[in-house]
Amino acid sequence: MRCDVLTLFPGMVSPVLQESILKRAQKRGLLDVRVHSLRLFAEGKHHVTDDVPYGGGPGQVMKPEPIFAAVVAITKSCGRVRIILPSPRGIPFNRAMAKSFAEEDRSLLFICGHYEGIDARVQRGLEAEEVSVGDYILTGGELAALIMIDASARLIPGVLGKDASLNEESFEASLLEYPQYTRPRVFQKMEVPEVLVSGNHRAIAKWRREQSILCTLRNRPDMLRRATLTAREQERVMGGVNE
Ligand code: ADE
Repeated sequence: MRCDVLTLFPGMVSPVLQESILKRAQKRGLLDVRVHSLRLFAEGKHHVTDDVPYGGGPGQVMKPEPIFAAVVAITKSCGRVRIILPSPRGIPFNRAMAKSFAEEDRSLLFICGHYEGIDARVQRGLEAEEVSVGDYILTGGELAALIMIDASARLIPGVLGKDASLNEESFEASLLEYPQYTRPRVFQKMEVPEVLVSGNHRAIAKWRREQSILCTLRNRPDMLRRATLTAREQERVMGGVNE
């Protein structure tokens, strides 16, 4: 997966790419992320990238010219691009989109907005996809771009181990993950559930499945509607699962 991030604040993006799994994925050649400073594409002595909004109102709007100039330059170096505009106005980012990013042949070019937003001609002229990472407003598009890169990169084959892909399947089944425990067996008077130390793999699988359903019911009841449950499980969910 190749990503290009166009930003006024490269320092918000680059350090995150130098750690942990994203760093390893880049080292292994599975992920290639380039961070570009938008300021370098702004003309004039002061490299101005924003201006007041037409029609009045508070704040500043990011100008289209430096962004178009940057996109031309970046496209020259990486070929075909799929342009993503992180924005709270966008369509919701989800696992299906992460998968499509991970499988994308084109470079993913994230244009990070700040201030009151980006001149609307950027979206229109570049046919950019506006994508939101949640119903809240961030200070800019950088963290949103990183969320999308991170969630997509872990779906590239080889980026995570084999075990992790099993997790993905459980999310695809529209259930949240069951709780995990490690040693010590007793910590601050809290004990690891007996079943997990029983060695009974059937009982463990049953317990985990129940815990997944319970957690989903508690935290994401909306997801349960899409989950594939057995008739018995469905009955218990309706009854509030109190066994
Ligand atoms: N920029 C600011 N808020 C955002 C959000 N929720 N999603 C994507 N980009 C954003």
